[in-house]
Amino acid sequence: MPVDLSGALRVAIDSRLAEADRKKAKGDVDEACRLYRECAALMRQYAEETPFPKISEQRQHVALVYEERASGLLPQKESGAEYSHGDADNTLLKGEVSQLIHRSSITWEDIGGLEETKEQLKLAYGIEIAQKPDRVRVKGWKTILFYGPPGTGKTLLAAATSNGLEATFFNVSLSGILSKYFGESSKLISALYSEARRLAPSVVYIDEIEALSTQRSGDETGAERRVTSSLLTELDGIVGKSDSRYVLTIGSTNLPWLLDKAILSRFEKKIFVPLPDEKARQNILRIHLEHQGIDSNVSYSELAAMTEGYSGRELERISREVISQMIRELNPQIPELVSRGFNAIRSYKLKLRPVTRKDFVTVLTNSRPEVTTSDLQRFADWQESVG
Ligand SMILES: Nc1ncnc2c1ncn2[C@@H]1O[C@H](COP(=O)(O)OP(=O)(O)OP(=O)(O)O)[C@@H](O)[C@H]1O
Ligand SMILES: [Mg+2]
Repeated sequence: MPVDLSGALRVAIDSRLAEADRKKAKGDVDEACRLYRECAALMRQYAEETPFPKISEQRQHVALVYEERASGLLPQKESGAEYSHGDADNTLLKGEVSQLIHRSSITWEDIGGLEETKEQLKLAYGIEIAQKPDRVRVKGWKTILFYGPPGTGKTLLAAATSNGLEATFFNVSLSGILSKYFGESSKLISALYSEARRLAPSVVYIDEIEALSTQRSGDETGAERRVTSSLLTELDGIVGKSDSRYVLTIGSTNLPWLLDKAILSRFEKKIFVPLPDEKARQNILRIHLEHQGIDSNVSYSELAAMTEGYSGRELERISREVISQMIRELNPQIPELVSRGFNAIRSYKLKLRPVTRKDFVTVLTNSRPEVTTSDLQRFADWQESVG
């Protein structure tokens, strides 16, 4: 039976990395260099352990980062010139952080329903940013946690908030960071917040925040522990201070019950983002049909009644399927035109008609809502348990 060494490798890399950082901080460049190279070699081995190409590629990338770190230490040794060990790290990390900055054009109008949530969000940063009379110290929120079933508009809300503020939007998936940057993740978090402050106003959106949970992994590694502590430090820093550079952190999770108390308590405001109700479903369907220039000859209230239990993401998928089937039916020649080449299809104009009740029935018969009532119960139970 093959032995799974991946856990042992992770621990080995992690401890060497910490040691390398310590040596570097003490100015023991040779030893730090040697350790970073060892980390790189082990990381390559770790990359070969996984059958998943994408993960393997990410680990190879991290190995490269360790290599660069090792060589980044060398100029000082060779030239004896004034050179900060941190420079290579900082430039590298800044580059990585810049990849997390997203441009989005989502506005509040692109989000159906969730009226109260939108209101609360606007209030949160409105209070923080508005001028206050002398001696008045009221504070808005700087840390908000979204929790709720998948596909209900959490990312959309964060993007619209960011847009509304004309802020820099950092979109961070925690599990992605942990698997990609591994032992470097906690440095990335610090670099992220330093960039967020520099480019303020900023919205830092941290998705899958439960990835830091001790309950989830059981074998929480040093890397996760360090990320948690970096994040807690950053959150404490932004909540405590009245800084003119506004950085709003929005955490997001589908599994709030996995969150550790330490993390949970850092979020000043916790907002449940539910499945859309009847009215919200009408709005969401309008956004994905009418606002896309597609007419419907069924009323939106009827469509909303037919789609009870579906999330916003599913409603979007359903709308797209309905539209694509209608297009297929009216334009059967498309595949033939495409195989004749770019110019043939470019000169063709799509035929369209309003979507019908029957179109929806066809798509809905083969589909069931992803979120079950027991999932919803779990959210309700958790809500009750945290008060
Ligand atoms: N309230 C909504 N109004 C309009 N579209 C929505 C809404 N909610 C979801 N959608 C559609 O579903 C897609 C996914 O939404 P979003 O990414 O915001 O979900 P999420 O809550 O962040 O999901 P997850 O928890 O899985 O990350 C959106 O791009 C949009 O097309
Ligand atoms: Mg999301």
